[in-house]
Amino acid sequence: MPAAATHPKPHATHEAVILRALLENESGYVSGGELAKTLGVTRVAVWQQMEKLRAHGFAFKARRAHGYKISSFPAQLYAPLLEAHLAPRKLNYRFTLLPTIDSTNEEAARQLSSGQTAPLIVAAHAQTQGRGRFGRHWHSADNGNLYISFAFRPQIDPSRMHTFTLWMGINICELIANFTRQTPSLKWPNDLYLDNRKAGGMLTEARIDSDQIRDLIFGLGLNLNAAAHQLPADLSTRATTLAEHTRTPIDPNRFTAALIGRVLGAYHEFIKDNHRPTLADRWHPLDHLRNRTITLHQGDKLITGTASGIDDEGSLLIRQSDGKLHRYRAGEVTFSPR
Ligand code: BTN
Repeated sequence: MPAAATHPKPHATHEAVILRALLENESGYVSGGELAKTLGVTRVAVWQQMEKLRAHGFAFKARRAHGYKISSFPAQLYAPLLEAHLAPRKLNYRFTLLPTIDSTNEEAARQLSSGQTAPLIVAAHAQTQGRGRFGRHWHSADNGNLYISFAFRPQIDPSRMHTFTLWMGINICELIANFTRQTPSLKWPNDLYLDNRKAGGMLTEARIDSDQIRDLIFGLGLNLNAAAHQLPADLSTRATTLAEHTRTPIDPNRFTAALIGRVLGAYHEFIKDNHRPTLADRWHPLDHLRNRTITLHQGDKLITGTASGIDDEGSLLIRQSDGKLHRYRAGEVTFSPR
């Protein structure tokens, strides 16, 4: 039996409604007549929509008297497909997907400044001025990797921000592990690793107004599907991609839909301050630095010792030569490979 299509949102696009119906019945076929009825359009109009979807990288099996079935998905993010994946979760957010932009963090900040309702999400196939921590450049070619930012208006005390990136990192690592069966790890405070190479980075930026965080922007750059030769030479020995480990391409739309659900849920927990009691325990199995000899760079100051996890405030714990544990809130860590 062809599945009945459920509307992803009251204002859902025809593409999203069709895709939702096809996803709900992924192992079977959905008839053109059923889709036409759900959309209130003719079968010819449905056929035109299917052509449009083909032009966006979908392939369909079509069987007479049975209908359509998706046989392959686009290799790039496609907003109606994301919407279709997320439809059952009934989340509220504004989503913008751009072919290219200076920086998704920057665009999210612009949208917040222009008064758009939060939460809002901006993703792009490529960035011309992607940035990382300490103003570093984030390589952001249109190569199958993910560049995405989430923007919120939390109205919380700035002191609560110390745990934010760490908490998001835990959630994203757990999601990657579920999704790919790989074991990613986190290098305090914002790097995602697979084995001994960097697979992603997080950049949290906040604007403070009268002692409250007014705008909060969380950006994630995640190396999903780029081939090693698509990364610049200086990165190719230090960076890796998820697909290099799974050995099959990651479906960017399915993954990003799961990511959006996870990040919005994690933000909710963060705002309620529910995350703090388990933060250090959940960090522990993901900790890339634990028991390594590390150097923490705080400007010109260098602190060397053994990395010993984090505390529930998100500070890095380092056992130093005096035998004691010291806590550090900021800085950049370097270490030698084991
Ligand atoms: C780092 O490792 O230093 C953090 C890198 C963060 C990169 C992401 S890509 C999406 C978002 N937009 C940006 O300009 N930066 C973040």
